[in-house]
Amino acid sequence: MVKCRCGQVYSGVPEHLPVIGSGENRYPAKVIQQLLNKPGGTAHSGVPFGDAFLFTRRRYQSMKRMLSGIKPTGQLHLGNYIGALSKFVSYQDEYEMIAFIANLHCITVPQDPVELQKNLQDCVALYLACGLDPKKSTIFLQTDVKEHAQLGYILCCHTYMGELNRMTQFKDKQAHGEKNLSGGLYTYPSLMAADILIYDPDYVPVGEDQKQHVELTRDIAIRMNNRYGKLFKIPEPLVPKVGARIMSLTDPSKKMSKSDETNKGCIYLLDDLKTARKKIMGAKTDSLGIIKFDPENQPGVANLMQILSSLSDNRPMADIEAEFAGKGYGDFKRAVADKVCEELEMIQGRYNEIIASGMIEDVLYEGAAKARSLAAPKLETVQHAIGMEIISK
Ligand code: TYM
Repeated sequence: MVKCRCGQVYSGVPEHLPVIGSGENRYPAKVIQQLLNKPGGTAHSGVPFGDAFLFTRRRYQSMKRMLSGIKPTGQLHLGNYIGALSKFVSYQDEYEMIAFIANLHCITVPQDPVELQKNLQDCVALYLACGLDPKKSTIFLQTDVKEHAQLGYILCCHTYMGELNRMTQFKDKQAHGEKNLSGGLYTYPSLMAADILIYDPDYVPVGEDQKQHVELTRDIAIRMNNRYGKLFKIPEPLVPKVGARIMSLTDPSKKMSKSDETNKGCIYLLDDLKTARKKIMGAKTDSLGIIKFDPENQPGVANLMQILSSLSDNRPMADIEAEFAGKGYGDFKRAVADKVCEELEMIQGRYNEIIASGMIEDVLYEGAAKARSLAAPKLETVQHAIGMEIISK
């Protein structure tokens, strides 16, 4: 049985019919075309539809949905890959994966326009090079689906300042005495909540640092559901057991991050292999000289072990300890560097092919169209529930 947003219920829709939308707003494309009587027209939400939006019913109705994004503030790094991107890839066969590029989030801090555009291109190319398949996953730029920003504003009006004050990312920047922090940086968790809730995902795969934002998202969703009736699915954060927080190679008390000042603590996915190897060989360890997984007393070694384990199908730490028993840090670092370089070489090979193929625009166009077909009806439902609409679309 399928309920159209006009209220009409259709029963006995054959299994093979393609559908667009999701949940209650999931319509067989054929039904919509009959309603409009003009193929290639617009659905109730005003969203144009065509083959690009025709998800096969069999594929998506039985699948749980997952959504995540990466902010292309700079070049993607090994932490992004291990904590997030590689997980998106491994989930895309089992889940309906929505993976977007959070370009609104990157302007919360000043950006050079030319550099930002290059980073955006690279980010999409790296999504694909790392194995995201546009046939299985919906890949798009946040700004190509304007509903994110609109729902973001609505959710910001339902987020308390006390909650935003508790978000560690803003607090950290403030504590470091950074001047002229933007309002966007402060309210960014509400926009992130909109990025998520607009698609009603079941899970949000993220590294450890983003868990707090997904928890806030859940609080906002519960608050709005209590106030307006059930609007949003409550998503679960999905944080990997190993590799959720890859640390800086030069200071293992700090997270590996795009804003690494020395540039030696962070391995970028597009670093040349010689540079990457040099960074690992120079990674800070300790004077104990044993390879043991003990993050508290040997944070540098534990970090390298996490990198090695994550890149080797979550190889158990005991296994790694056994292999390097009696060996020195030089041998151990060489093994980590070999593994990292092997992975980077594969990614960079595909990255070069993707850049040369010119396929990025097509992928983004199609991904945005699919995403919009989900986001537009959701935004309307929310605005309607809040009492903000007069014209029924
Ligand atoms: P961002 O761009 O900082 O990071 C992207 C993803 O990479 C993970 N990550 C790490 N994982 C392990 N070790 C590290 N050192 C490391 N550094 C980063 C992050 O946890 C994240 O999963 N606000 C988000 C982007 C975003 C988003 C969303 C994510 C915007 N809207 C909606 C999920 C859902 C961010 O700035 O991530």
